[in-house]
Amino acid sequence: MSAGRTPIAAANGKAEFVPGSLRVHVITWGCQMNVYDSDRMTDVLATAGYGQAASPAEADLIILNTCHIREHAAEKLFSELGRLRRLKESRAAAGGRLRLAVAGCVAQAAGAEILARAPFVDLVFGPQTYHRLPSLLARVEAEGTAIDTEFPAEPKFDFLPEQRAGATGPVAFLAIQEGCDKFCSFCVVPYTRGAEQSRPAAAVLTEARQLVASGAREITLLGQNVNAWRGAGPDGKDWTLARLLRALAEIPGLLRLRYTTSHPRDMTDALIAAHGEIPALMPFLHLPVQSGSDAVLTRMNRRHRAADYLRIVERLRAARPDIALSSDFIVGHPGESAADFAATLALVRAVGFAQAFSFKYSPRPGTPAAAAPGQIPEEEKKTRLATLQALLREQQGRFNQTMVGRELPVLFTGPGRHPGQLVGRSPYLQPVHLDAPHAWLGSIRSVRILAAHPNSLAAASLQPQEHAAA
Ligand code: 5AD
Ligand code: SF4
Repeated sequence: MSAGRTPIAAANGKAEFVPGSLRVHVITWGCQMNVYDSDRMTDVLATAGYGQAASPAEADLIILNTCHIREHAAEKLFSELGRLRRLKESRAAAGGRLRLAVAGCVAQAAGAEILARAPFVDLVFGPQTYHRLPSLLARVEAEGTAIDTEFPAEPKFDFLPEQRAGATGPVAFLAIQEGCDKFCSFCVVPYTRGAEQSRPAAAVLTEARQLVASGAREITLLGQNVNAWRGAGPDGKDWTLARLLRALAEIPGLLRLRYTTSHPRDMTDALIAAHGEIPALMPFLHLPVQSGSDAVLTRMNRRHRAADYLRIVERLRAARPDIALSSDFIVGHPGESAADFAATLALVRAVGFAQAFSFKYSPRPGTPAAAAPGQIPEEEKKTRLATLQALLREQQGRFNQTMVGRELPVLFTGPGRHPGQLVGRSPYLQPVHLDAPHAWLGSIRSVRILAAHPNSLAAASLQPQEHAAA
């Protein structure tokens, strides 16, 4: 980069040089961990003098943070790169310069292919190396392109800046764990994110305090297997997630806690009990089950049976009777029979989900299921998905309907769809819309739920004063 001189697109199409500012624009696809990673990339780049650009046209560096979990990841990437190539060329024609970088799980899985198919890309790096961004950019400067898809020995978290570059909104993500050792048959995560790693409790607590100091009222702890988190506590003892949640709940001003995504195998007694004991821990849990058939769960290498899942749900509800449950489902995993699929529907009926995500099985290159016998035809997957989604939609609608007439504490997080409206979150993670003053942003207020929609609630104000707690 030519430090100190930044070309940005001007209204007349010519590059305009603004002294002293380099700007990055990150485009994020995929999971909440990618959203967190993108924020942290901008933090790292802030230490190298980069501000944030609101749009690609204003950026010196564009990073595409990609997701590889399901189909069309590569096609989506290459079509976006095609668009950005034109921007890069018009910038060059105007005497300016634009750098293009590809990050995330597609970069990890297909780094060399990206550089071969899109040689105008300057930089490719995986999810574990973005703490090296300043030196990677220096390599681009010296060598033209750079690729870094290592799984380095040093955990990136130890090298990320302590301070966040941007302002934090009322709700924030905090990565506490990364990677996965479970190797479910269908999943690329163990290959793209690497082995399970937990951050030490002290680092998590420090980051949480900073997020609260810059405005966060609700923090969602993130990890591919977040409930497998194990870390050294500041007291020198070995902490579990339940212990960490207790310590986080003591931070003044931190009113709400959530964690995602969990594996049923790691729902320990202590963690289940924590749902009844920590008021700041919100009554909502995303706990993927994937299938309700033991035969499919075995083929998926899930390490739990349907009955284990139902037992966990029962115990969670004993600890916290109003807990709302969410899950992930895959239909059409290789070998899934009509009876297996019926078992999934039966599990859904037995649990009653507040919301859920469901997907057609998508073969991921390099995973065991991709090469397994008994691949299910696309049409059959489509039919099964439609049946499952109809049931899940009905359950979500019914759950939202139970809120009507109730008084709920809502954390206001942003402007709503209409002028004068705000949107917030219920304890059960439902978006709630309300006509309310802008000054309510970041506060928790009691509201009366007036109506339920398929994906949100409408409310009237009950309490002009702020809540001091959840
Ligand atoms: N095909 C379809 N869905 C998948 N998921 C993960 N891998 C695949 C795949 N190959 C789903 C799982 C997981 C969620 C994040 O994505 O349900 O829990
Ligand atoms: Fe993927 Fe299974 Fe690990 Fe979840 S637990 S990240 S589905 S391998």
